[in-house]
Amino acid sequence: MADSNAKMPQATPQEVIISVVAGLLAPLLAIFLVVQLVLSIQESHKPDVSSEAAQKATLARIKPLAQLAAVDANAPKVEKSGQEVYDAVCTSCHAAGALGAPKFDNKGDWGPRIKQGYDTLIKHAIEGIRQMPARGGDGDLSDVEVARAVAYMANSAGASFKAPEAAPAAVAAAAAATPPAAAEPASAAQPDPAKGKLVYDAHCAVCHSTGVAGAPKAGDKAAWSARLSQGYPMLLDHALKGIRGMPAKGGNADLPDADLANAVGYLVIEAGGKL
Ligand code: HEC
Ligand code: HEC
Repeated sequence: MADSNAKMPQATPQEVIISVVAGLLAPLLAIFLVVQLVLSIQESHKPDVSSEAAQKATLARIKPLAQLAAVDANAPKVEKSGQEVYDAVCTSCHAAGALGAPKFDNKGDWGPRIKQGYDTLIKHAIEGIRQMPARGGDGDLSDVEVARAVAYMANSAGASFKAPEAAPAAVAAAAAATPPAAAEPASAAQPDPAKGKLVYDAHCAVCHSTGVAGAPKAGDKAAWSARLSQGYPMLLDHALKGIRGMPAKGGNADLPDADLANAVGYLVIEAGGKL
């Protein structure tokens, strides 16, 4: 027994120190790793704390979808209908009410907004308001396309806004529908600005009273002076056929040429021009 005791390996002081240090280090290392893990988990959750950041992330997630759809339909820039724009861009928020968007077809959501009027709604949709991004986040949409989508949505919820119509197709249809002999040259008739006021209120004010889409405002001499120098027949021609943001006949293919001429006459007189 004494012999075997004597054979038990005797730890040298160095060995004792090493084993004590190792015994302390192992738990310390474990604690260090756990702390690292916790910190890295906290780090990855941080962005959710700010609702603004979360909202941006949501927008970023939604955006590629909307753009993809727009690129598809835009190939030869054909202006989309309100429903097409809604399906491609607006539905991502307005179908389910994401971010507090007024829901499609929901009178309660839209009632108070519709009361603001079509012009204001178009302006808010184009410029964006609170959580509503400008043009629904699709910068490729024209003002007219946004205006149509607004009408499509608001009308689903009880409004009866008249959306601006397509320009080139509408003109072609109108030309086909009207026997050429009956269509007197528009510039031949002397316009009647007083009658034109009624036409303006019904068909042109939607853009020309607020300047939506860059339309020159009625009565705004500065906005009209350069245009007036083109002369009334040229202005009428542009209003008839459309030019840039101005749809042919203001988007009303059915508008008789004489009514259009009266409306242009009204705009010219209001701006201080001559017929
Ligand atoms: C990213 C989500 C999102 C998309 C996409 C979106 N909207 Fe909105 N929209 C909102 C939200 C949120 C509101 C409510 C804003 C508020 O009043 O606080 C809103 C409100 C509106 C309003 C009412 C504004 C007012 O003055 O009351 C109109 C009109 C509108 N959107 C049109 C559109 C159109 C048109 C599109 C597509 C081209 C579109 N929206 C796409 C989120 C969106
Ligand atoms: C959908 C919006 C919209 C409607 C509706 C509309 N306009 Fe315009 N109009 C415009 C825009 C935008 C311009 C400016 C175009 C440009 O020069 O870039 C414009 C320009 C014009 C011009 C000046 C053209 C020129 O050569 O400078 C005349 C005239 C005009 N509109 C008449 C009318 C009449 C008349 C109506 C109603 C029958 C009408 N518009 C309805 C958007 C509209």
